[in-house]
Amino acid sequence: MKTYQMLVDGAWVAAESGKTFAVMNPATGEVMARVPEAAAADVDKAARAARRAFDEGWRDVTAQERGRILFRLAEQVRKDAKALAELETLNSGKPLMESEYDINDVATCFEYYGGLATKLHGEVLNVPDNALSLALREPLGVAGQIIPWNYPLLMAAWKIAPALCAGCTVVIKPAEQTPLTLLELARSFETCGVPKGVVNVITGFGEAAGAPLVAHPAVDKIAFTGSVEVGKRIMRSAADTLKKVSLELGGKSPNIFFADADFESAVDGALFGVFVNQGEVCSAGSRVLIQRPIYRKMLDAMVEKAKRIKLGSGMDPATKMGPLVSKEHMERVMRYQEIGRKEAKVASGGGRPREAELQKGYFVEPTIFYDVDNSATIAREEIFGPVMSVIPFDDEKDALRIANDTPFGLAAAVWSRDIFKCFRMVKRLQAGIVWVNHMQPTYVEAPWGGYKMSGIGRELGPWGAEEYLQVKQVHINLNEAPIGWY
Ligand code: NAI
Ligand code: MG
Repeated sequence: MKTYQMLVDGAWVAAESGKTFAVMNPATGEVMARVPEAAAADVDKAARAARRAFDEGWRDVTAQERGRILFRLAEQVRKDAKALAELETLNSGKPLMESEYDINDVATCFEYYGGLATKLHGEVLNVPDNALSLALREPLGVAGQIIPWNYPLLMAAWKIAPALCAGCTVVIKPAEQTPLTLLELARSFETCGVPKGVVNVITGFGEAAGAPLVAHPAVDKIAFTGSVEVGKRIMRSAADTLKKVSLELGGKSPNIFFADADFESAVDGALFGVFVNQGEVCSAGSRVLIQRPIYRKMLDAMVEKAKRIKLGSGMDPATKMGPLVSKEHMERVMRYQEIGRKEAKVASGGGRPREAELQKGYFVEPTIFYDVDNSATIAREEIFGPVMSVIPFDDEKDALRIANDTPFGLAAAVWSRDIFKCFRMVKRLQAGIVWVNHMQPTYVEAPWGGYKMSGIGRELGPWGAEEYLQVKQVHINLNEAPIGWY
């Protein structure tokens, strides 16, 4: 079994304590590798290395060169795509086809920010004086990045790529459950031209390795994707050193179906919205709102299809849904299934699958609860698994009221053939991402992030790079004479 090292200041190292921890294959419950268990001392080394790399060189590397490095990273990802996708599936559980999409998106993300590097520029301002007034955009410095386990390499790319594009250096911590694809990619950093110390990868747990990164004085910014609870903790801790933070947190996104929606697309869209990636999706359409005239018919059609979703190892091409990422997470999702059985009616699933070959892995059944009241726990709390709560509604106003009655605001989707109705909904839904007649497509060109308690800041597109920049105002006096005040 492979024991990995982590990348600090261009060197592959163990944790200073010498400790390692096990990384699991969630489809089998077997240990697949070991990685260093970083603590504050390791984080300190990495943060200092990133600081040095920024101050002593990276800040002067041209945008063109940073762009080329990002293009080389993209090329490397495409070259290693097969192996990376397989490793992603073995470590995270998701079906191989979904990993293949993810890895392709990783490469696309590096390409996008490779191109954007030379298009970031400042402005010349029309101030009322004989002066040249400039707004320059400069990199923030050292970015600390904390990554979740649901899209391991993709979430790392969403953070590394804009940071390098903007000219920052990075200390990145993958989730403890899924560090392997990033560690593999990091092996190519040197040959892709990433100078030593510019991207440091530390592996470890949240409290022991994530928290010291957030607190570290050499780090200028924290970018985090994960739970609301940890997001709040990060914000509090970042206040001590006044770091910038961007947070992409959870959701309880409504997927809203009007009676005039295309029926077959609606059924597919509702299932895809919450069952893709085992429901381990921050924008999961976990609240399915259905207008009463089609409520029963659509529920029956969804159940019919949900029952045929094939669970299994992500490596099996027949598999449509893999295991959840960890035993701990499976148990959390099962607790919600139990709560749901008391709060609402079960239309399908509701527990663990019975097949003998699925017992060792962390599998749960795709589950549909119906007649759910929007005040129920399963309608309010993020479950982050394949659990759908179906809620009936009467009309547009009712749909909006239910959809917006949540502390979250990451995403929402509306399905109808009436464009006027769709646009009225689009305007009034409180969410950072709104889909019409689809749910989940995500593009590196378009902004990603939440309203309300779903987060702060936006990833992807030029907005993503903006999070790693700060603005410098420059005033250049053109009057060759004293001010004349005294
Ligand atoms: P988490 O928020 O604890 O973990 C996410 C990342 O934050 C990991 O890298 C972890 O090591 C790190 N972390 C944990 N505690 C930290 C701390 N005190 N300081 C700095 N970093 C810390 O999420 P977890 O426990 O894996 O999952 C719990 C729930 O969070 C899930 O059930 C789901 O609802 C939500 N979640 C949401 C995600 C999203 O995409 N928005 C992704 C992952 C989880
Ligand atoms: Mg946690």
